[in-house]
Amino acid sequence: MRTQAPTRSERLLKRAALSIPGGVNTAKRRPRPPVCVRRGEGGWIEDVDGRRLIDYHAAYGAVLLGHGHPLQVRRVAEAIAEGVLFGLGVTEMEALLAEKIVSHVPCAERVLLCGSGSEATFHAIRLARAATGRSRIVKFQGTYHGFHDSVARNFLSRGPFSAGIPEAALEQTLVREFNDLDGVERAFERAGGEIAAVITEPIVHNAASLMPRPGFLEGLRALCDRAGALLIFDEVITGFRHHLGGYQAIAGVTPDVATFGKALGNGFPIAAVAGRAEHMERFSTTEHGDVWFAGTCNGNVPGVAAALAVIDILERGCVHDHVFRLGERMRAGLREVAGRCGVPATVSGFGSVFVLCFMDGPLETFEDTTRNDAELFVRYRRELARRGVFEMPENLGRSHVMYSHSDADVDLTLEAAEAALTAALDSSLP
Ligand SMILES: Cc1ncc(COP(=O)(O)O)c(C=O)c1O
Repeated sequence: MRTQAPTRSERLLKRAALSIPGGVNTAKRRPRPPVCVRRGEGGWIEDVDGRRLIDYHAAYGAVLLGHGHPLQVRRVAEAIAEGVLFGLGVTEMEALLAEKIVSHVPCAERVLLCGSGSEATFHAIRLARAATGRSRIVKFQGTYHGFHDSVARNFLSRGPFSAGIPEAALEQTLVREFNDLDGVERAFERAGGEIAAVITEPIVHNAASLMPRPGFLEGLRALCDRAGALLIFDEVITGFRHHLGGYQAIAGVTPDVATFGKALGNGFPIAAVAGRAEHMERFSTTEHGDVWFAGTCNGNVPGVAAALAVIDILERGCVHDHVFRLGERMRAGLREVAGRCGVPATVSGFGSVFVLCFMDGPLETFEDTTRNDAELFVRYRRELARRGVFEMPENLGRSHVMYSHSDADVDLTLEAAEAALTAALDSSLP
């Protein structure tokens, strides 16, 4: 029987659940025990119970610079003082943002703005279907591309992750294993004439940050070229977080179309779809375009001002150096912590992203992720939260260093990690 009084977070969720289904506005915002946040500052959040936590959840990786980055907040405030949305023509800021993205992202000859990563992948897939006159797509087990029917399947479980998707939509999506080029080749052999696109996260950050094996992305490029299908990189996580040009600039593989979101806005709602002019000019924003593209709030002033501030700050060159260095320190430190605790561990991630999995390597395929000790993974993160460090307590969830984090934060985190892992190994799940 429970003896402790409910926390403020628990009480707030309970109250909200009377008017919001489940009390939260997106799936998977209900960690156990619940955390409701009152405010954030830099690399920290403070919950409604007054606990301060170092935040590596970073709003599922949307926050790269830190909470309330002063320059970004000031730029957005100045911009919205003159209006938030006009809904006709284009603003100077929208034109400038598009020019910036075109100048940085290798595949981006043209770019369109929308509101979320799901919208961006929706548009990219529809564009590929229009461009090829084909309807099927290939996605990989473990990748996440948003909530819509073509992709709402085979994320951390096999099959669709939502009810309500028509069978006809499910049939249009072929699922293959990430890093298995032969599997993709076989899909093209069997159904090449029907495949409009291959869509992938270039690093599968949604499943313990699986890195592409050498040659895998190049192989996808070659297979798509041979079959006349489009290659779509979903850079909603990798874009701007790892490089101003996205992971495509690091990998040297250029997709036909790419999608961006999250770090582009540093928490503000803005996303983008970018790609080759020949395809992008088919969107109905042009006079003769036949692929519908619309959104009442597209190109809204706060989102665009926020993204311009992000790019401005990234162009100064310190952010990636800093978050890559701290990310590397974190991964190395966590390996040592796990070693001292005598637990099998593999630390994955890239740049600012890190995930401590409790398993022996290798960690290269989705199948490999199933060897992770999911119970220990979640228990460890709950113990961490008790010690002032927040990583989302959900199996295989990645964590993110922000620009606001410091070496001192990493030191505190590694200290907490050792104590949390020791406690997690000593206890069993409540
Ligand atoms: C790789 C990737 N693509 C697309 C999305 C969907 O973006 P949004 O949640 O903004 O719709 C996400 C969200 O986590 C993502 O990680």
